Amino acid sequence: MKKKFVSITLALVLGLSLTACGNSGGGDKAGNNANTEDTDNKGDAEEPADDGGSDAAGSDAAGSDASSAANKDKPLVWFNRQPSNSSTGELDSAALNFNKDTYYVGFDANQGAELQGTMVKEYIEANIDKIDRNGDGTIGYVLAIGDIGHNDSIARTRGVRKALGTGVEKDGNINSDPAGTNTDGTASVVQDGTIEVGGKKYVVRELASQEMKNSAGATWDAATAGNAIGTWSSSFGDSIDIVVSNNDGMGMSMFNAWSKENTVPTFGYDANSDAVAAIAEGYGGTISQHADVQAYLTLRVLRNALDGVDIDTGIGTADEAGNVLTDDVYVYREEERSYYALNVAVTADNYQDFTDSTKIYEPVSKQLDEGSHATKKVWLNIYNASDNFLSSTYQPLLQNYDDILNLEVEYIGGDGQTESNITNRLGNPSQYDAFAINMVKTDNAASYTSLLSQ
Ligand code: BGC
Repeated sequence: MKKKFVSITLALVLGLSLTACGNSGGGDKAGNNANTEDTDNKGDAEEPADDGGSDAAGSDAAGSDASSAANKDKPLVWFNRQPSNSSTGELDSAALNFNKDTYYVGFDANQGAELQGTMVKEYIEANIDKIDRNGDGTIGYVLAIGDIGHNDSIARTRGVRKALGTGVEKDGNINSDPAGTNTDGTASVVQDGTIEVGGKKYVVRELASQEMKNSAGATWDAATAGNAIGTWSSSFGDSIDIVVSNNDGMGMSMFNAWSKENTVPTFGYDANSDAVAAIAEGYGGTISQHADVQAYLTLRVLRNALDGVDIDTGIGTADEAGNVLTDDVYVYREEERSYYALNVAVTADNYQDFTDSTKIYEPVSKQLDEGSHATKKVWLNIYNASDNFLSSTYQPLLQNYDDILNLEVEYIGGDGQTESNITNRLGNPSQYDAFAINMVKTDNAASYTSLLSQ
């Protein structure tokens, strides 16, 4: 029995829930009735469709639990965008400690960034004979930056600059600002690096980099990256020996627009299925951020909090079904309330193992028993329904795990630009047992927690 609430079925949901309201004589309605805060009809009308009685006993229990807990005390997981200051990167510890059941799930951005930089560097070294396309002794690369205020994006820009020797220090760290155009090597945010292979020295230059933000404000924008490579290649195409991107969405857009045809190796991040498949056609490589582990952790921490069990259950400690993760795939940092999946480089050597990015991770693939893990309702948003990674990799994984963990998840897709487009759809938090939030901007946690605190 699949119970999934997808936002595009909202019309249907509205229709059915009106019926459900009319018929509400028991079942999980008990929960809503008991909820004295839920007095506006708007909230009831937004109620998910299949509350009409199919949930059986499990949900009744869920309903009463949910209704007795104040929204501010319900389990909350931030994922993919860590509550933090988008200028300084400083973690927003108020948001990360919103209540005792609040966590963040993401991945180790620095470890992944280092892997990405090393992957590019090793590719250059291994292909030194053919990499310098115009033979000028300078290995030129262009860089697509996702979001200058997103810590994953910042880390990846730094990782590439560090490995290639093009980074410049600023306030004790590598400057991650976009360089704009730097074909003459005079930009101040980067410098020329050198790489020595077989006794021969080459200059490495970041020819250009920019944040791929569209005019409406959406970041990590693949179409913008496709346009940028068009502009760059038409003015200095011969000098571009390598294309690097903060993610595969933008990387694949540049690959398809230009680098594939011009056999210029292009490197991304995320190991989306299309990017992994493109390795066979000359895409240089990508990094798996172990989305299969992250998606599991995102829902698992909620499941554990809802069950009132130790947070490590089914994570570092096997649950009764046998689900468990080993410490080579994630780390937990208690002081940051954060779980971080570990990254793996995906190149021509191993890409065959990564062809389906939506496949769940086998060690945590066992179904939980509904008797002891009653069905619960989760409100979950994706900051941008068009984000390649979140829509083609992360959400399909979540949808696989929600069944296994007996969670009824309502998936909300944002426009990638405005927080209110999403928060407007958290009109009645009382109808959910737990929340999973992917902010548009990492500074905006309070827009959500204020709704839960009302
Ligand atoms: C992913 C990007 C994605 C971004 C969205 C990053 O972790 O690598 O592909 O666009 O998250 O927040």
